[in-house]
Amino acid sequence: MKEKITSLLEQAEAYSIENTDHSEQFRLKFLSKKGELNNLFADFKNVPNEEKKEIGALINAFKEFCQSKYDASKELFSASASAQSIKDDFTKPGFPYASGGIHPLTATRQRIISIFEKIGFTVASGPEIEDDWHNFSALNFPENHPARDMQDTFFIDSKFALRTHTSSVQVRLMENNKPPFRSLMPGRVYRNEAISARAHCFFHQVEGLYIDKNVSFADMKQTLLYFSKEMFGEQTKIRLRPSYFPFTEPSAEMDVTCFICNAKGCNVCKHSGWVEIMGCGMVDPEVLKNCGIDDQVYSGFAFGMGIERIAMLKYRVNDLRLFSENDVRFLKQFQSADE
Ligand code: PHE
Repeated sequence: MKEKITSLLEQAEAYSIENTDHSEQFRLKFLSKKGELNNLFADFKNVPNEEKKEIGALINAFKEFCQSKYDASKELFSASASAQSIKDDFTKPGFPYASGGIHPLTATRQRIISIFEKIGFTVASGPEIEDDWHNFSALNFPENHPARDMQDTFFIDSKFALRTHTSSVQVRLMENNKPPFRSLMPGRVYRNEAISARAHCFFHQVEGLYIDKNVSFADMKQTLLYFSKEMFGEQTKIRLRPSYFPFTEPSAEMDVTCFICNAKGCNVCKHSGWVEIMGCGMVDPEVLKNCGIDDQVYSGFAFGMGIERIAMLKYRVNDLRLFSENDVRFLKQFQSADE
């Protein structure tokens, strides 16, 4: 019996297991119901009592050896089997994974919105296809104003056009709600212009509207100064130049000190130290009346800026077309851009 166990142990030790088939054959030969180990247990019954202890220990050692050799082989082949299947799975994504980034216009819009949200502005939206009333008439555009001209506006039919500014959302907001208002109108707008590095047939705006009792021009200046400092840095100053919009009176263009050269003069600010970033003004009482708001009780201001313009200044992009071409070589440069 002893010799038999020793010779079986030698066989098991010498058994070469090189794949899963071998491992299964090893199990059948030594560990299965009809295998050598069970035969030994069967023979064990006939072992004289005085030898049982010694033979029992040998059988146990043999059993342990076979079991651990078999377990080790199984583990080895299952690990390499899964490694093999990963290697062969061509549908698995490659590494490193390509990750997207926020589009520079989205990042700029989010930044503008979050600055105004801090002082209580909410966001309003409206349709891109507008009627004459919301885009022009309610905003006090005279019948023959050049902005209504076919050259500027994409008309859809005699009644509808693509909105030329998001001021139309201000009209909708005022018509459908009661003052006070403190809202932003971000969105895409369309103008019939030849596409070049400086102009496009569509671009994006964020406009704002603040209507309440006793709102003054000083409130507007302070609000826009706060925005400019948050957007371009604490040292930023603003300057308002008289201008004209049909829907505001008085109206102004707002410049900020050039944040690229710190107002020392560079080619971005054309050596003036100032860059123009938005139009603004006190909402014309006619517009309030058109929208059903009592102009004797309420007053307010509005402003509007082009997101592309701000993004071009902020990221020093010199061609407007890049924002809508979706060239990954351009977009990749903004992967870390966020608010
Ligand atoms: N709607 C104007 C434009 O598109 C911007 C503006 C908004 C100006 C509000 C003054 C007040 O150019």
